[in-house]
Parts: sequence; C-alpha cells; structure tokens
Amino acid sequence: MTSIPAETLSQSIRADQTFLQSILTGLQAEQKTIDSKWLYDPKGSHLFDQITELDAYYPTRTEIEILERGLGELAPQIRPGTALMELGSGSSVKTRLVFEHIPGLSTYVPVDISESHLLAAAADLARDYPLIEMRPIVGDFTSDISLPKDLSNVPKLLFFPGSTIGNFEPEGAVELLTRCRQIERVDDFIVGFDLVKDPCTLVRAYDDELGVTAAFNLNLLVRINRELGADFETAAFRHEARWNKRDSRIEMHLVSKRSQTVGIAGKRIQFSQGETIHTENSHKYTTDRFSDLAGQAGWSVGEIWTDEQDLFAVALLKPE
Ligand code: SAH
Ligand code: AVI
Repeated sequence: MTSIPAETLSQSIRADQTFLQSILTGLQAEQKTIDSKWLYDPKGSHLFDQITELDAYYPTRTEIEILERGLGELAPQIRPGTALMELGSGSSVKTRLVFEHIPGLSTYVPVDISESHLLAAAADLARDYPLIEMRPIVGDFTSDISLPKDLSNVPKLLFFPGSTIGNFEPEGAVELLTRCRQIERVDDFIVGFDLVKDPCTLVRAYDDELGVTAAFNLNLLVRINRELGADFETAAFRHEARWNKRDSRIEMHLVSKRSQTVGIAGKRIQFSQGETIHTENSHKYTTDRFSDLAGQAGWSVGEIWTDEQDLFAVALLKPE
C-alpha cells in the first residue's frame, strides 16, 4: 500500500484532553450525551462500512443509485483542473463515482476525523487514480476547514455525501454549510440528505436485526474504556433507535440496563435504570426544509435529485 502523508487541521484532534473533556462534559449533563463524531475510531469506521451494506440501511445504496444517474449531467459544468474536496469521506466509496463521471479533476482533498481509515482510503485511490493528487486532511471539520494555501486559487467541487449533514442539529447544519460557503473558489457543492419517511423503515435502518448498528453504538463505550481508562461494563447497556417526530430525527441512545456507577478519570458517573446516553441524531428533511437551511447558509439550490421511492436526495448547490 502506498503511504500518503496526511495534513492536519490546525486544531489537535488527537489530544486526549479534547476527547476526555468532551466525554466528561457530555456525561455530566442532565441528558447524558456523547458527540457522534467520537463513534469513528478504527473499529467504529469499520462497523459503519458494514452498516452501509445492510439491507435495512437504504441510504448508501440509494445515494449511489442517484449519483450514478446524476453525475454525468453535472460533468460538463465542471472545469478541468478542479479539486474535489470531500467532508467526512470515510472509505471514499462514492468518490470513485465522481472520479469516473467527472474527468480532469486535479486533486482530491478528503477530510475525516478517522485517521487510519482516511489514509487507507486515500492510498487505495492513489493506486487506482494515479493522475489525481491525493491530499488527505485529518481533522474535525466542525472546528476548522481551512485548506492548504496552495489550493486557495484552484476551482473546487465540494462533496458532502452520506447525509452526514443530518447528524447536526439544524443550527449546527447551517453553521457548517456557512463554513463551507467561506471556502475559496467553490463553484459547486454536492450534498446528500435523507428524506422523511415512515418511522418503521427508519427504526429498522438504525436498529438492524443483525445487531451491527448496536455494535457501532456500543463501541463508543469500548473506545472510552480503552482510550480514557473508564470502566463501562458494555453488557450493562443496550442500543436503542428512537424516532423523534417533533424534531424529525432518528436518535441513537445507549440505555443503562440497571442502576450503576461508572468511573472516568477520577469522576464517578451515576446511571439510573433506563437512563440513556444520547449518542447520535440523524435528521430527516423534506426538500423544502433542506433548501431553506442551505439558503440560510448563503447557497443557492439548483437541482435536487431523488430516487423513485423518494427515500434520499442529493442537492446541487452554488454560491449565491
Ligand atoms: N461519506 C461516507 C461516510 C459517511 S460516515 C459515506 O457517504 O458513506 C461519516 C464520516 O464522517 C465518517 O467517516 C466520520 O469519521 C466522519 N466524521 C464524522 N464527524 C466528523 C467531524 N466532526 N470531522 C471530520 N470527520 C467527521
Ligand atoms: C454518517 N451518518 C450519516 C450515518 C447516519 O445514517 O446518520 C451514521 C449512522 N448511524 C447509524 N447508522 C448509520
């Protein structure tokens, strides 16, 4: 495997202190929470890849089908020499579709918090697409998405697939889209978002019968034990996916099966039976609601591609 040097965003996401602070603050709140970005250690990223292959998890295959149909239409509008920048690139599976449909891209800049996964994906792409320069950036895109200086004058295509935008509350989503709007020389922005649908389909997608999503959620506790020396007994928690109608989102929780106390960094965290740690939100939008958020962030919405069953959508945004 070719090894590719990674750049890092200016904040040090590797600092154990950042992780510890975030976990302690979240677990000391009235509703215990853990920021969903911590789901992605090497094991979590691997489990997420397994989720994308599940029958019940419709978003990945549906978005791929939408991109397969739509990207050819977009290709003539993209200038040769454009750099593709992707947020939360994971295994970069959908990136390959962009490379195949849009010729002449000069550079690929994937940004992800999950370092080893990011670098492995970039190395695989470098082998398969030797004419595209790979510039992976390890970091948290909620803190900083400044690009290497030498790319500031290069035209850019931004890519944010997967409905990761749905993992932010609407205000956070507008903030992130606004940050994206501040990146220099972005001509086009492709964003995937998940559509509102019947709650049974949604709960099944986030609580699959094989237990892969449960393992993904519970892995957070394994990670906290390993990296922060906590003493969570993982068998004393269970995964739950809930549809929150008011906020139009699926929530993942870890439910304490009994009353218990957990130690982390000298602090004791008390759980009552049935109390939960809220670990992820996955907001589901209508096309109008998403367009409204994009507009608030200074983007003008062009086409929105959907699939025949209206399960998922991909929006084409341009700077206003
Ligand atoms: N884009 C891929 C992967 C989506 S999973 C797809 O469509 O299938 C979400 C990805 O975003 C993961 O790879 C995770 O590591 C990354 N991620 C989540 N929060 C992040 C953050 N705050 N900063 C950088 N990357 C983040
Ligand atoms: C990355 N993100 C868009 C996924 C989602 O659907 O919200 C994460 C996920 N959580 C459980 N299953 C998948």
